[in-house]
Amino acid sequence: MGVEELEDQVILTHPEDPTSQVKILKFGANVLSWTSAGKEQLWLSEGAKLDGSKAVRGGIPLVFPVFGKKDSGPTANLPQHGFARNSTWEFLGQTKENPPTVQFGLGPENVSEELISKWAGNDFTLILTVELTKESLKTTIDIENNDDHSWEFNWLFHTYLRINDIEDVLVSNLPGEICYDQLLGQTYEEKLPVVQFNEEVDRIYQNIKDDKLIQVVELGKPQHTLKRENLPDVVVWNPWIKKSEGMGDFQPKSGYQKMVCIEPGHVHDFQVLEPGEKWTASQLLYKDELKYQAV
Ligand code: BG6
Repeated sequence: MGVEELEDQVILTHPEDPTSQVKILKFGANVLSWTSAGKEQLWLSEGAKLDGSKAVRGGIPLVFPVFGKKDSGPTANLPQHGFARNSTWEFLGQTKENPPTVQFGLGPENVSEELISKWAGNDFTLILTVELTKESLKTTIDIENNDDHSWEFNWLFHTYLRINDIEDVLVSNLPGEICYDQLLGQTYEEKLPVVQFNEEVDRIYQNIKDDKLIQVVELGKPQHTLKRENLPDVVVWNPWIKKSEGMGDFQPKSGYQKMVCIEPGHVHDFQVLEPGEKWTASQLLYKDELKYQAV
């Protein structure tokens, strides 16, 4: 109970309710599993590599310092979604007993020379704080610029939420928001009252006010509620059949029916961080009643 450190992961169990538990892999500081009331809330591929040979397919991968793949600019040489998910973070220990809270850290010394050299060797500190309550999971990121020059970054929690059946799911509170559809290559205002899935979806909803909750509703019941702090963008992604087939670590192939990625981040542009400056943001996942927030 409490906090258990294994060689490759850290397990937090809520002291008052052992059915609330979170497992965090040191590689990528990737949350692999979160159970609330004994029920798994996240989707992890059965083919996910947990040995550091590849970013983890599922749970909550961390995206830094670039979202996607850029053709030009200071992050153009970096692999898709940057290097935070491909590096082993340092376990910094427990900072609170109840709710159980732990921290992980990443600096250039934890990133392979090959990867860090692709980002001009910029100096930074990332601290990830994971807090488990009986009803929620909060992940907070603190980013500090330790350099004598400014640099810019994207941040994103690439959260894979577990659902029962994608065809019964809708995502709420996005009408009226500006969205960049990565499949169409077009920007438009979301006119539909809810987002539904019957094919691949890959969209970046941009500049959404913090007070808008995003809810994943299944057969009328809200299964997941996301509250964001300082994360204006939300990526909604489901790979559907063809894209899942092309991903070797996506198993089983029918897994797209059981997951939806709702990814809060700062990705519509780069956030500039001046020397000595800090930036912080968080995602809170919990259950809530249906909260319809009109435009
Ligand atoms: C999403 C992107 O965030 O991540 C998609 O919007 C991408 O375009 C997906 O396919 C998965 O990326 P990766 O690098 O983990 O296969």
